[in-house]
Amino acid sequence: MRLHTFRCSQSLKGKRILVRIDGNVPVKRGVVVDGPQGKIARVAVDLEWLRQQGARLVVMTHLGRPEGKRMAAYTVAPVAKRLSELLGVPVRLSREVVGPKAEQMAVLLQDGDVLLLENLRFHPGEERNSRAFAQQLAALGDLYINDAFAVSHRAHASVDAVTEELTSYAGPLLAHEVGVLAALSAAPKPPVVLVMGGLKMDTKLPVLERFLPKVDAVLIGGALAHAFFVAQKKAVGRSAYDPEGVAVAKRLLRDWSGKIHLPVDVAAASRLSSQAVVRHVSCDRIGAGDYAVDVGHETLKVYEAVLQGAKTIIWNGPFGYCEVPKFAEGTRALARMIAARTGKAKTVVGGGDTVPILEDAQLMDKFSLVSTGGGAMLEFLAGKKLPGLVALET
Ligand code: 3PG
Repeated sequence: MRLHTFRCSQSLKGKRILVRIDGNVPVKRGVVVDGPQGKIARVAVDLEWLRQQGARLVVMTHLGRPEGKRMAAYTVAPVAKRLSELLGVPVRLSREVVGPKAEQMAVLLQDGDVLLLENLRFHPGEERNSRAFAQQLAALGDLYINDAFAVSHRAHASVDAVTEELTSYAGPLLAHEVGVLAALSAAPKPPVVLVMGGLKMDTKLPVLERFLPKVDAVLIGGALAHAFFVAQKKAVGRSAYDPEGVAVAKRLLRDWSGKIHLPVDVAAASRLSSQAVVRHVSCDRIGAGDYAVDVGHETLKVYEAVLQGAKTIIWNGPFGYCEVPKFAEGTRALARMIAARTGKAKTVVGGGDTVPILEDAQLMDKFSLVSTGGGAMLEFLAGKKLPGLVALET
């Protein structure tokens, strides 16, 4: 795959550049969870380079899934604050995603200035990949850069339709990730082990289906495992699971039972709170009032044995309800196990929920690649064409 990247000799001075970043990180009490190697910090390096070239930046991101509606909880104001800290300059926030006010703010930008547009997903045109919305976005810049690999699997206006309107380039961070992942997927060294957890089952189950013929083993954990438990007629108590995913899980278990590994035990609690008492129980004994909040010790032992033999490890998604730090212990242990394999195996990790845990455990530099993408990384490695990348191909 050859992406359209810009030449460093190209003059960017005075150019208004529309840059798509992925600032979709957790926000706690109005502050983004993004450490020194977090998604925003990593893309800020590229933004700073563009500023140094004298470019005027109109930055855009989504945050969460507000589904086309303006919702205060999903304002990108905390992202503007974080960018401003990282770049050491004020980052103005356009309260309008597009329209005359946003255009006025964009026109007033001077060389090196940065403007952030309000959450793209407040506008219904974003997820519909609307041409009209893309044209409104394009009116804000002279050229377009996609530096958001993590959202390149979405055919959304700021990723796809906008490339029809402006000369478009792949940003350095995106190009780097695609380069590493492309090299890995061209010749993955077997045995390949896929480790999958987390919540976004709507994205993950179809990807899992594509992966199964290509990998040697799949280790399932987190909320994703609960759909499989239900498929096996096991009780999951009050644990989250995707009812629509159960039928897929049943089919996968029928066709690929030899490759799919499921937890044998979980940490259960009656409340999703740090005060809750945690009990390790077998997966057959999750009580009606229980939440499965973390992976169990026995499961980790079994999974470690599988990982020991792996030459390629791909991991996406936490194995517990990590919003409560006490329930992130299993995921941290898993992170240490995979990190310990780096060198002997290629280890690739990705996902918005996984990265803060790695940062917290100081493991960010212990993998072959920490991708900013979760779903995007999986879809890419599973061999799917990502609309955002197809749009940038030369
Ligand atoms: C991510 O965090 O994986 C990306 O920002 C994509 O988010 P989405 O799954 O809501 O499209």
